[in-house]
Amino acid sequence: MDIEDIRRRVSASLDPSRRSEFGQFFTPSDIASYMAGLFTPTTRAVRLLDAGAGVGCLLHAAASMMTVERVDAWEIDGSLVDPLASTLADIGAPFEIHHSDFILDARDLVASGVTFDRVILNPPYRKVSNSSPHRKAVEELGVRTVNLYTAFVAAALLAMREGGEIVAIVPRSFLNGLYHRPFRKFMLSIASLDAIHVFNSRRSAFSDDAVLQENVIVKLTRGNCQGDVSVSSCDDGRFIDVSSFSAPFDSVVVPGDPNAFIRIPSSSNPAPDAVSLFALGIEVSTGPIVEFRVRSSAVEREDGILVVTPKHLSPAGFSHPSALAKINHLARDPSVAKHVWPAGDYVVVKRISSKESKRRLLAYHLRREDFSDGDVAFENHLNVFHSGKSGLAPAVAARLCDYLNSDIADLEFRSISGSTQVNATDLRAMSYPGSISPGCL
Ligand SMILES: C[S@@+](CC[C@H](N)C(=O)[O-])C[C@H]1O[C@@H](n2cnc3c(N)ncnc32)[C@H](O)[C@@H]1O
Repeated sequence: MDIEDIRRRVSASLDPSRRSEFGQFFTPSDIASYMAGLFTPTTRAVRLLDAGAGVGCLLHAAASMMTVERVDAWEIDGSLVDPLASTLADIGAPFEIHHSDFILDARDLVASGVTFDRVILNPPYRKVSNSSPHRKAVEELGVRTVNLYTAFVAAALLAMREGGEIVAIVPRSFLNGLYHRPFRKFMLSIASLDAIHVFNSRRSAFSDDAVLQENVIVKLTRGNCQGDVSVSSCDDGRFIDVSSFSAPFDSVVVPGDPNAFIRIPSSSNPAPDAVSLFALGIEVSTGPIVEFRVRSSAVEREDGILVVTPKHLSPAGFSHPSALAKINHLARDPSVAKHVWPAGDYVVVKRISSKESKRRLLAYHLRREDFSDGDVAFENHLNVFHSGKSGLAPAVAARLCDYLNSDIADLEFRSISGSTQVNATDLRAMSYPGSISPGCL
């Protein structure tokens, strides 16, 4: 049987609205084979699960690499049950198709004591609202998730035997999204993170379906001791140019990080003197001024509070006032006063996304003289490095700005952040050279 042919044929016949409701993007065979190849080889016959099986692309790839004792496939869409059944029949092991909702079934599944040795997943992506039955069902399992894909991984982890393995292709957002913190903590408490694969291009994973989602492939082992993490990447979805290295777990999840961010290190050699921003005594915040809220306080007068927005920053540096900016100065109204900081040396980084600039970090050192010793108000499309809402020592600001504009910093930032806009949370989570410190002159 040609599984690629089935995948393409059934994909083309899907009803578009159901397709987006259920996230019906089937996994191309190159990706499915790569994922299946991540499982630890075993001579034991395994019980295999796909919790949202589609037409069985992933199960087909996994079964070709292991001896299968039995296959369980959940699939909510009745129109896919027939093609799925023919794929599973081709595997030649006993199978059961559960034509129902995996998340709503998960509590009974976990309570039944049935466990799986190998789980392969490309789960649907959809926000889980507070009122949805899925939210309640996952909470009954003792986990909080904000998206269906993390709900699938959480429920599958609970349905695995100790030592069982999951390989999943999922959006990258769970690695560092703040809302995903409870899921990350749950996942890292119950399983080891053995491997992460990143696609260097946003289009490469599901190029036939024009999916622009940034995906990663992760491999997890339930109950395993955490060791080094295999980090791999490739430029295209055919895996002809995979490069990989082994990263110490500490460089992936920094010990003591309250958010348990999962970074994708760019090389196996983290900088030896790397420290946190907190250790440097520097803070970073989103600029407090929201332009449309203060529009009525805008003034033309030079004696007003100087406002800094991205429009005042260009490759030529800082230029104020700017004809491009909607606001250059603000009146000293009480509503504005609380957002005003004293003149000083600040480093600002534009809140841009990967679509707007190839370089992720564009930093500018603004000096006390730039504000004519008056007050300054930063707009919220800027991230501002400061010390207690005051400026930094000029030499510290200069070193910080040089670092943020370096290729090393750009790589470090990419290890944390996907293609979302550059934000203060991700800048805070980066590591910085200890030599930026005020003590190093
Ligand atoms: C992204 S597709 C992946 C299909 C298949 N695993 C593959 O990789 O080709 C997700 C599948 O999960 C199914 N699905 C969505 N929500 C589900 C749910 N709550 N329970 C079970 N299946 C679900 C969809 O109909 C779809 O076939």
